[in-house]
Order: sequence, then structure tokens, then C-alpha cells
Amino acid sequence: MPTYHQGLPKLPLPDLKDTMDMYLRCVKHLLTEEQFNKTQKIVKQFEAPGGVGELLQSKLVEKREKTANWVFDYWLNDMYLNNRVALPVNSSPVMVFPQQNFRAPIDSLKFAAHLISGVLEYKALLECSHDLPVDCARGQLAGTPLCMEQYHRLFTSHRLPGLEKDKLVAQESSMMPEPEHMIVACKNQFFVLNVVINFCRLNERDVLIQLEKIKEMAESGEDRLPPVGLLTSDGRTEWAEARSILMRESMNRDSLDMIERSMCLVCLDEASGPELSDTTRAMLMLHGGGAAKNGGNRWYDKPMQFVVGEDGCCGVVCEHSPFEGIVLVQCTEYLLKYMIGSPSKLVRAASVSELPAPRKLHWKCSPEIQKRISSSADKLQRLVKNLDMNVHKFCDYGKEFIKKQKMSPDAFIQVALQLAYYRCHGRMVSTYESASTRRFRKGRVDNIRSATPEALAFIRAMTDGKLSSKKMRMLREAITAQTNYTVLAISGMAIDNHLLGLREIAQEMKMEKPEIFKDAAYLISNHFLLSTSQVPTTVEMFCCYGPVVQNGYGVCYNPQSDHIIFSVSSFHESPETCSAEFVKHLLQGLQDMMDLCNECSTDPNTAERRKGPTLDHAVGGLCSNECFCASVFLKSKYRL
Ligand code: COA
Repeated sequence: MPTYHQGLPKLPLPDLKDTMDMYLRCVKHLLTEEQFNKTQKIVKQFEAPGGVGELLQSKLVEKREKTANWVFDYWLNDMYLNNRVALPVNSSPVMVFPQQNFRAPIDSLKFAAHLISGVLEYKALLECSHDLPVDCARGQLAGTPLCMEQYHRLFTSHRLPGLEKDKLVAQESSMMPEPEHMIVACKNQFFVLNVVINFCRLNERDVLIQLEKIKEMAESGEDRLPPVGLLTSDGRTEWAEARSILMRESMNRDSLDMIERSMCLVCLDEASGPELSDTTRAMLMLHGGGAAKNGGNRWYDKPMQFVVGEDGCCGVVCEHSPFEGIVLVQCTEYLLKYMIGSPSKLVRAASVSELPAPRKLHWKCSPEIQKRISSSADKLQRLVKNLDMNVHKFCDYGKEFIKKQKMSPDAFIQVALQLAYYRCHGRMVSTYESASTRRFRKGRVDNIRSATPEALAFIRAMTDGKLSSKKMRMLREAITAQTNYTVLAISGMAIDNHLLGLREIAQEMKMEKPEIFKDAAYLISNHFLLSTSQVPTTVEMFCCYGPVVQNGYGVCYNPQSDHIIFSVSSFHESPETCSAEFVKHLLQGLQDMMDLCNECSTDPNTAERRKGPTLDHAVGGLCSNECFCASVFLKSKYRL
């Protein structure tokens, strides 16, 4: 078993006092005065010498000594495994490929065969870890190597539903054989595609032949089995219950085992309808269009589901617990580049021997299971109706314009998102931006709390009709604050994981839940009405996901040199949100911010300020007194 994090430092543990100070700073402007005063008192008590906070912190210090990553399990459980919501839309992000132009059904099978060949090449690289180049951080704190552990789980894991908590089942031992089959879903039926036969990897032509056989079997109408895959789209507890009923039959146990141990799924989808805009394809990728379309042609527990639609709607649906979107992008980009760069090998000579037909998986479905499938279908349908999606390609400028202003493109976009939310809703709310902690052993992500007081000051200045020079100064301060928090988070010194660790270790010690975690401020600060993430790509495609709370937005963005793709999601059932309205304000805000930059760039008095927050500046001298200075924090507290 290769080690994917050799030589990387352990995730640091921030000081208790620093986290408490930062926590108060982050929540102050999101609370009423009364709420904040109460929180301040609670925090003071928590961090007092000899108090609960110190005790919990000392236990975390011990945990850090003993484990590769002190927050890994806490985070995985909290973020995914304890979460009971249905995976489609709520949890599983998707990558949407460019629209494919398939003229005939065979074209989609050829595409799938080419893709599968790419997967096999990529998997071979993964198996020889030294062949997979180690990722290196770009952007802020560029150049450091990143933990590669998540890659190992791409094709060797699955999420097992549990009544109270799911389990991430990942192959941990090199004693276990790597899976040598994929599952192909077609018309809600599941087939075993062995990709290694007689110790030989199938070539692309053989794969195509097998896919044709699968399509024929699925279409024959004989022995059409119920759409069992729909059960995996249900809430996790409901699916766990249904799965335990399925498990009573040995035939079902065998089918479940084959799916769960497979490398991945390839979903051969039927055409979904005439209009395939980016927004439509994003929605179809997120939920499959419900039971009436391809919603049952999925197995949501598998981390990688490659979707190939007859209508050219293609992409990847990803179960999120084993890895982050960035790892998914790296893998997907490899595949698309492989497909562009290596011509399809279908013309090669026929394979040496006649291949056995792929095996169809069978299910014994009791009336109880049938009932549950139809209940899962209803719930998926509600999700389909509920999803309010809006994908927009903003073409007025991209990250090059922002870099020319000597600003961080990511921070700039985050401030624009704050402005958009404020203009939509007249207030600022707790915001999540994922920040990679892969600079550390087994690192996943922490949260950049983008709703900074500096962003609020800028937004108010934009709304109050202040002088442009003042607005520009405030924009720079907002960007500096955002950039500083980013550096803090990617250095493992942000507050969310630390607070989670303190909360969870208290529970482990069977202590009564500390007051700080029962306080309204904690609940408000963890209700992320705006959940955001940068997922950049170097190949034409985009990522999207749903909101994490019923009345919130999910915003995924992909900054390119001269444009930015935004995927905004919310739920129709919430009377507070509207994705189109959010996008409208976002575009207006980006326009206003560009105008502001252009206007101020002609003002000679702003020349000095225009140097802006380069990384050195961001972590150094540019911070105003009020603006949290990450460099001081990092230099004095960074314990690796
Ligand atoms: N002046 C000029 N250029 C600047 C600048 C400034 N002040 N600040 C940054 N830049 C440049 C950077 O050098 C970089 O250049 P490059 O494109 O040539 O590499 C570029 O702008 C982008 O930097 P920035 O916008 O600051 O962001 P980043 O790339 O460092 O990304 C995060 C910031 C938080 C998104 C990133 O650190 C991260 O954690 N990504 C993972 C997110 C994730 O996990 N997503 C998936 C969740 S499922």
C-alpha cells in the first residue's frame, strides 16, 4: 500500500485563545448586540484558566500526538457520515462535461468505451503511486506538496448506509485484491463489466462490444427488474433500512457486494429531452431527472459514477466522503485529456477470444422493497422539482483582470458573492468557503469564513453611495481580510475544525455539552446560508452542487483567465431564495466592482494602494489595525 503523505507535516492545532478571539470576531456582526454580549460571556468562561476549554485543548494536544491528523475522523463524521440527508443534490457534487454531439446511439457507447479505457489507464497510474505526480499547491502559499491520500479512494471505496451513521468503506490493505470490474447501469438495470479477463485488460474495442451486449440485454425487456438504485437516492437512514431488508436474500447480497466492490459505475443514460442548456445538464447530473428519467440509473454510494447520456449529456456524479472536488477534477481532467489526446482505438484488431457476456445483477424484491422504491422515487421527484439551478458564464472579465488590480481572484469573487447576497437579502450571513488543508498529512478542508466585517463595511459603502476612492479603499481592505483568512485556513489555523474538535472531544469524554456549543451564536454561525467553493478546471467543464441548508445557496465557481463560470443552486420551496435573482445581483456586483477598479485606477492618489495585497502584503504590513493580521498569527503560533 503506497503512503500518500510521507514527509508532510501534521495538521497544526491552533491555540485556544486565538480561536476564541477569531470566533468572536467572525460572529459579532452576524448577531444582535444582546446575542453577542451573551456569547462573549460564554466564551470568556470557556477559555478561562483552568476551565473546560483548557481541559479539552489538552486532550486535543494528546490526540494530535497520537494520530496522523487529529481532526480527520471528527470532520468526516460531522461533514458526511452522520449526515442523514439524501446524497443527490444535498451532498454529491457533479462535474458537467461539455455537451457531446452524438449522432447515433452507438456514438454514446463509443464515448463510454473511450472513457472506460481512460479510467483503466488512470487506475494503473494510481496503483503505481510513483507514476502519479504529487500535486503542488498553486495560488496562495504556492509550491508546497499536497497530500495524495484521497486519490487512493477514488476507485476503491464506497459509502455504506447506517441507521444512525454511515461508514466509509475504503480498501486499506494491499492484501485485498484491487477491483477488476465496473458496474454498468442501463435502463435501471445493473451489469458487471469485467475489465480484466484471463489476466488481460480489455482493450477499447472489447469494452465497446461488451457495452453493446449490455445495451441489448437492458433493452430486451425480458426480466426487467425494479429500479433498486432509487433506494440509494433516499435519506441515509431510509436507505440503510431498505438495504437491511434487501440483505435478507442471498441473491441481493451478491448483487450489493458486486456493486460495492466495483471500481466505479458507468451510467448509460437515456435521452432526457430536447433542451440541454448548461443549467439543464447540471440539474440532470445532480438528480438524473427523477425516476421518470435516469434517477434510478445510479448507485449513489459509489464515489465515481460516469454518466454518458444518449443525448450527449455527460459528466461525473461523485460521492463526496472519500475525497474533495479538486481530486475529482484532477482525475476527470486526466480522462478528458486522454480522450482528446489519444484517438479512439476501436479500429484495432478484434480481441483474441470470444468474451463472455456481462452478467446482469438480479434482485429479489419483496412487496416491502417495492413500496420503499416507490417512496424513494417520490422523494427524489420532490428534490427534482425543488432544485432551483442557475449556471452562468460571466464573460466580462476573469482572473487576469483581477490579478492586474493586484488582488487575489478568489478573494475578489468571495467579496462579490457577499455583495450579491446582501443586495438580495439586505443582510450578511454565515458563509462557508472550502479551503484545502492538503498541505498536511491526511488533510481535507477547513472553512474560510468569508462574511468578514471588512466585507460588510465595503458592501455598505457600495450601497450608501460613498465616494469611489473610499469604496476602493474598503474593497482593498475586504480583499485583504479575505486573503488573510484564506492563508490562515490553508495553513491549518482556521477556527471551524478546531471548534469541532473541542466539541467532539467533550462528547468523547462524556462531558455535558459545553455552553459555547449550545449558544445561539454557534448555531447561527454553523447554518451556512451561503456555501461556496472554488473548483477551477483546465479543461472545459464545470462543477456544481446543491445548497447545504433548506433556505440557502450553493455557489460553485470556476475562474478562468477571461471569464468565470458560476453554478448557483437553491430550493424553490424556500420563499427566501431565488437562484436567478442571486445571479442577477452577482453579475451587477461584479460589474460594479470592475467599474470601481477602473475608475480608481486613473486616480494618481490611489497608485500606492493599487499595489494591493500580494501574498507578502496580505500576510504582512497592509492590514489595518482592525483587520486581522495572519502573519503575526502564523509567525508566532504556527506549530508544525
Ligand atoms: N495580485 C496578483 N495576483 C494574485 C494576487 C495578488 N494580490 N493574489 C493571488 N494572485 C494570483 C495567484 O498567484 C494565482 O495565480 P495563478 O493562477 O498563476 O496560480 C491566482 O491569482 C489565484 O490565486 P487566488 O485567487 O488567491 O486563489 P488560490 O488559487 O490560492 O485559491 C483557495 C484559494 C482557498 C480556493 C485554495 O487555496 C483552496 O483551498 N482550494 C481548494 C478548494 C476546494 O477544496 N474546493 C473543492 C471543495 S469540494
